[in-house]
Amino acid sequence: MTSTLAHLGLYGLGTMGSALALNILEKGFALHVSNRSPDRIAAFVTEAQAEGLATKAVAHDSLAAMAGAMAAPRAIILMVQAGAAVDECINALIPLLSLGDTIIDAGNADFHDTRARTTRVEAAGLAYLGMGVSGGEEGARHGPSIMAGGTPAVFDGIRPVLEAIAARFNDAPCAAHLGPDGAGHFVKTVHNGIEYADMQMIAEIYGIMRRGMGMEPADIGKVFEAWDKGALKSYLVEITGIILQAQDKVTGLPVVDVIMDSAGQKGTGRWTVIEALALGQSASVIEAGVGARGWSSEKTARTAGETILATPRKALTLTEAQLEGALLTARIAAYAQGFRLMAAASANYRWALDNARVAEIWRAGCIIRSALLDDISAAFRGEMPEGQLIFAPAFVARLQANLPALRQVVAAAIAGGYPVPALAGAVGWLDTMAQARGTADLIQAQRDFFGRHGFERLDGAKGQHGPWAD
Ligand code: 6PG
Repeated sequence: MTSTLAHLGLYGLGTMGSALALNILEKGFALHVSNRSPDRIAAFVTEAQAEGLATKAVAHDSLAAMAGAMAAPRAIILMVQAGAAVDECINALIPLLSLGDTIIDAGNADFHDTRARTTRVEAAGLAYLGMGVSGGEEGARHGPSIMAGGTPAVFDGIRPVLEAIAARFNDAPCAAHLGPDGAGHFVKTVHNGIEYADMQMIAEIYGIMRRGMGMEPADIGKVFEAWDKGALKSYLVEITGIILQAQDKVTGLPVVDVIMDSAGQKGTGRWTVIEALALGQSASVIEAGVGARGWSSEKTARTAGETILATPRKALTLTEAQLEGALLTARIAAYAQGFRLMAAASANYRWALDNARVAEIWRAGCIIRSALLDDISAAFRGEMPEGQLIFAPAFVARLQANLPALRQVVAAAIAGGYPVPALAGAVGWLDTMAQARGTADLIQAQRDFFGRHGFERLDGAKGQHGPWAD
């Protein structure tokens, strides 16, 4: 380590924390580690020894012991559960640290919390970084995508470490300082919102193939495997191909057939939608992904509904090309809604977020990494009418070629009785954005009718009322 680089500590040796710690050690940095429960500390040391990475690791019994033993300047990475645990760590660290020290929250924090914590920690004379880390355990261990928010100088202080441990795309590290305080955690939240949308759209396509077309999971898996070599190339399509071809060890059945169809969620998808609505934005595809997870957990009600509603279902005949085109189009819509949301948040919070840079650091390491992101970053650096990704020439061409397939798939699924809320959400939004004259004239008239809210006339006169006001 160079003398200008802070001494590093990492607190929280759960799955992600351990993996990130091993990654840091592997890149040659010395690292102090600790964890709330001591058994994880011992397990980590054993793991580090087994990998030949223990020589530069110093384990401590507690956060306080670790902070006390480290020489200044110190940079302490927190890898604890988002929420109260982060505040507990900050409260413990503030009296122990001194000017020049940095606290880094590398969990999935709510960016509003990160903003408040930045203020609190800075008021105590310390520095704070809110850092989104994506890529699951594998990414944390071998190269995640890192989205940092905070003071640029503070980021620069730890930059050599972050760039060394991050994933690489064309040899460029997928780690960036994106803006002040909560900017990094906000971008990570939107990343997760897009993750929810993409997973839901993939699941809807799977549902069409499985229930509507009567295909076996392994055969669907092979289709996803083939799609992963084309325009849909991405981590989520890749793992879907693997998952659908996997068998349960106990029963020998396709593994998806022994898994309860109720999806969990920890909050980031929901926060994306809440923030989208708060900023007056539409994120219909992401919203559908979050909503569908909620409905999925209503297992008892859905089971009753199958009998009570007795919805007739028809067999579907769709081609792989139609399904591929549909998924690609809806994926473009989900990304586009995510990037619009980041632009809106950036304007609102004055972050000066660079969407091209965000797309660049999402090209490797993170869960939503996909071939499309390289084109998205190029689009943000080129001509983009109205700042809309879907109006960038390369995406206009893609949408014109593939929107008919999305329309056909959604129409067939709806006619056949199969739920496609995310795919349908994408069509609804894309069609809205392609219509100069919408139907909000009638909404305005209704508002004026029952509440005398007034409307603007097309001739420019404002505060007007309809004849019902007389
Ligand atoms: C990532 C993921 C990760 C997230 C999981 C689970 O980028 O590595 O987004 O941060 O925690 O995907 O999230 P849910 O439990 O909300 O599905």
